[in-house]
Amino acid sequence: MINSRLRTLRDHIRWAVSRFHEEDLFFGHGTDNAWDEARQLILGALHLPWEIADSYLDCRLEVDEIADLQRLIARRVDERVPTPYLLGEAWFCGMSFIVDDRVLIPRSPIAELIESHFAPWLDGEPARILDLCTGSGCIGIACADEFPEAEVVLSDLSYDALEVANQNIERHGVEGRVFTVQGDGFEGLPGQLFDLIVSNPPYVDAEDFADMPDEYQHEPELALACGDDGLNLVRRMLSEAANHLTEKGLLIVEVGNSQVHVQALYPEVDFHWLDFQRGGHGVFMLSAAQCREHQAVFAARV
Ligand SMILES: C[S@@+](CC[C@H](N)C(=O)[O-])C[C@H]1O[C@@H](n2cnc3c(N)ncnc32)[C@H](O)[C@@H]1O
Repeated sequence: MINSRLRTLRDHIRWAVSRFHEEDLFFGHGTDNAWDEARQLILGALHLPWEIADSYLDCRLEVDEIADLQRLIARRVDERVPTPYLLGEAWFCGMSFIVDDRVLIPRSPIAELIESHFAPWLDGEPARILDLCTGSGCIGIACADEFPEAEVVLSDLSYDALEVANQNIERHGVEGRVFTVQGDGFEGLPGQLFDLIVSNPPYVDAEDFADMPDEYQHEPELALACGDDGLNLVRRMLSEAANHLTEKGLLIVEVGNSQVHVQALYPEVDFHWLDFQRGGHGVFMLSAAQCREHQAVFAARV
């Protein structure tokens, strides 16, 4: 039902914040508090920039805009739909990506590594990059943006996800050098080696998956859960990575809270766990030499 006393942008942001607090929503898809979430939803729905001057907040809205906003706020509260799905858009590395419930909403801390060109670990500009488990394509397409000469392969098991990744390739005009490949892990990839393999695979363990807030139920289970310890796919990736990396190549994989399981499973491997200024944890780096050195260990523990 339309609340007819609300007139301005400011009225709607304030009202949304009250509703979000009242209903105890979870924030984890691009914002971490009710005010930012309300601003993102309301400005995004009206196609207004995030940095809008405060004076514009007192602009009055059209009747149809008010109806749309109140419908979106109701879906956010009643159905717990994450805001990026309501808007059909998420931001990653300063770039806009099309998202819907076929793909995970981009939020990987790997964004920080991309923005800093993987310094100081990457040796020169990578000629070939693989974004394994690409979802919306955000990691690979952001890499293509940072490394304009690189050829990038985006790979995923889900045909649905790859349809969204292809839309994002088109949105960012990188069709000539960013390609999608369907496959299970490394299966289905062309024979060439990669200078950089980056992956945010499904890694949520069974305990965390059972505890996830309602908002995450809108995301594909295939993008999140991956067995008891969350590492069903990561174990296979580790056992095969050496076969797909150039001599000086790098493997970078996000495993989040499953870092503890990785450390327990491979105590003899010296994973380099990366630090992030904007938050995030559980991302490791291995050199191609390390992947080769420990390949037998990785293969034995698949
Ligand atoms: C955590 S999501 C990451 C999406 C994207 N890279 C991001 O950071 O937003 C994991 C992705 O892995 C895909 N996936 C799941 N199992 C897979 C498998 N066995 N092989 C390849 N991709 C897989 C899912 O379809 C999903 O798109």
